Amino acid sequence: MTQRKGLILAGGTGSRLWPITQGLSKQLMPIYDKPMIYYPLSVLMLAGIREIGIITTPEDQAQFRNLMGDGSQWGLAIEWLVQPSPDGLAQAYLIAEDFLDGAPSAMVLGDNIFFGHGLPELLASADQGSGGTVFGYRVSDPERYGVVGMDTDGAVTQIVEKPAQPPSNYAVTGLYFLDGSAPNRARGITPSARGELEITALLETYLADGTLNVERMGRGYAWLDTGTHASLLEAGNFVRTLQSRQGMQTGCPEEIAYQSGWIDQAALLTLADRYAKTEYGAYLRGLI
Ligand code: DAU
Repeated sequence: MTQRKGLILAGGTGSRLWPITQGLSKQLMPIYDKPMIYYPLSVLMLAGIREIGIITTPEDQAQFRNLMGDGSQWGLAIEWLVQPSPDGLAQAYLIAEDFLDGAPSAMVLGDNIFFGHGLPELLASADQGSGGTVFGYRVSDPERYGVVGMDTDGAVTQIVEKPAQPPSNYAVTGLYFLDGSAPNRARGITPSARGELEITALLETYLADGTLNVERMGRGYAWLDTGTHASLLEAGNFVRTLQSRQGMQTGCPEEIAYQSGWIDQAALLTLADRYAKTEYGAYLRGLI
């Protein structure tokens, strides 16, 4: 099978967080001690993915590049892509069609933060399947998200965006494992009433073919929201609490790259030296 490639969708206007995101991309905002995009990037890395396309607005791309470059410092190959206007999540597959070049993909939204024991194993099991796999997470307010309806065997019966009457409490998280047919399928969908190529419309094409799977993330996982000022602060506090209690980082690309054998000790030390004035640098040094 062709190697799965990663996509991070990090465009959008961030208007729900204005004024703070008027001059800075939402996905570059801090979640405690790291830029937000490090967390979804880490998820792709934990899935073993090293070829990653990052989609930003044309205005924000330079700042992302300053931060992440070509990814080689983490043993990655990052390709930079642009979404001129936020015309929907499914548009990412049209923008990334050449980059994907027929490969299956794992797309993560640049503002989605996941944490949980066993995440690499869960990602590995999603990587096995053909068709599409989404991750369902139980929430108290499903009407704010894409929602998945399931039968008693856990098979997907329905997938619907922000329903007034949710078919279940399982929100579809912003992480999508789709096979190589995704760009072709995205071409076949039409914009919704709000003018967007909806991710749920793309997923419905897999559902219609009987190839949409859902993996449930149990209560041992945290899927954090960064959509409001309050939830952004809560996400930062969550990361801080966890990290200070455990003395371990969450969402640290350097650590995953080193543990995965994608960078060696010398490369890690160079990265640690860059952050010599911070606890982050001390942590990286401590990994050796
Ligand atoms: O977070 C999970 C949810 O993400 C899913 O449950 C929903 O099914 C999915 O539609 C999406 O819902 P949101 O209401 O969070 O979508 P939003 O428009 O806020 O976009 C999510 C992120 O993607 C946000 O950081 C901005 C970025 N984005 C969005 C659009 C529409 C883009 O980069 N380009 C876009 O065209």
